[in-house]
Amino acid sequence: MKLAITGKGGVGKTTLASALSKIYSENGYSVIAVDVDPDANFAEALGFSDDEIDNITPISHLKELISERTGAEVGTVGGMFSLNPKVDDVPERFVLKKEDIRLLVMGTVEAGGIGCICPESAFVRRLLQHLVIERDEVVILDMEAGIEHLGRATAKYVDALLVVIEPGKRSSQTARAIKKLAAEIGIEKVYGVMNRFTQNEQVEIIKATIPDLPILGVIGDYNDVRAADLSGSTVWSVAPDYMKDVTEIWRKLKSAS
Ligand SMILES: Nc1ncnc2c1ncn2[C@@H]1O[C@H](COP(=O)(O)OP(=O)(O)OP(=O)(O)O)[C@@H](O)[C@H]1O
Ligand SMILES: [Mg+2]
Repeated sequence: MKLAITGKGGVGKTTLASALSKIYSENGYSVIAVDVDPDANFAEALGFSDDEIDNITPISHLKELISERTGAEVGTVGGMFSLNPKVDDVPERFVLKKEDIRLLVMGTVEAGGIGCICPESAFVRRLLQHLVIERDEVVILDMEAGIEHLGRATAKYVDALLVVIEPGKRSSQTARAIKKLAAEIGIEKVYGVMNRFTQNEQVEIIKATIPDLPILGVIGDYNDVRAADLSGSTVWSVAPDYMKDVTEIWRKLKSAS
């Protein structure tokens, strides 16, 4: 299973990605959690300590390795370099482990094609492609609001794209834009996850704004989840109701894909 989680800023993507990583791992799957958000904080949600987090070097900052593999000096633009660098040893060498979950932090990735096409972005894109297409593990990508990083070649191999939506028109507007983009780049299975909903009425109002987006499930708004973020705890250690809602979503996802 290769899963990408996206949605407007602050809607609860990273928290959901952490909970799903835990649920897969508890059910015996081998999981690689991948932080694809330049403003990376997946590690915190997975329970890494501040010291561990301070010592993380994102993949896009591995200058020597990237130079060696792409054949180009990092920081240069416009030169010749390999768009197909060797990456298959990178997950083993650079994952960080927390309990049974393995984490890769990608760092800043330029959107290929429009911005700079540089060795770092070629390397990260090739690594994402490797993770999504060539690995047997469950791979969970915590994305930012865009899905451009994936690129067409990789995107169509993602088994499901989850779009997190909160009770507000702005997040459903972002969801609509993501759904459109996903269709353009060939992702077939796009599902909405409603997060922080407290009333059925809110669910109905938001559903009506995105009628063609199948909804996997609804997650409540829980003080425990905020408390987890405040104290740097994982949601599975302090927010049982949240975990129950996400487990329900996980079951639906399994039967849908
Ligand atoms: N169901 C929920 N109930 C209460 N609080 C929640 C819930 N889901 C997420 N939160 C809180 O909302 C905040 C944002 O969550 P999170 O960091 O997961 O969002 P994000 O979409 O990854 O944000 P960003 O776009 O900045 O990466 C956090 O403080 C988190 O604890
Ligand atoms: Mg996030």
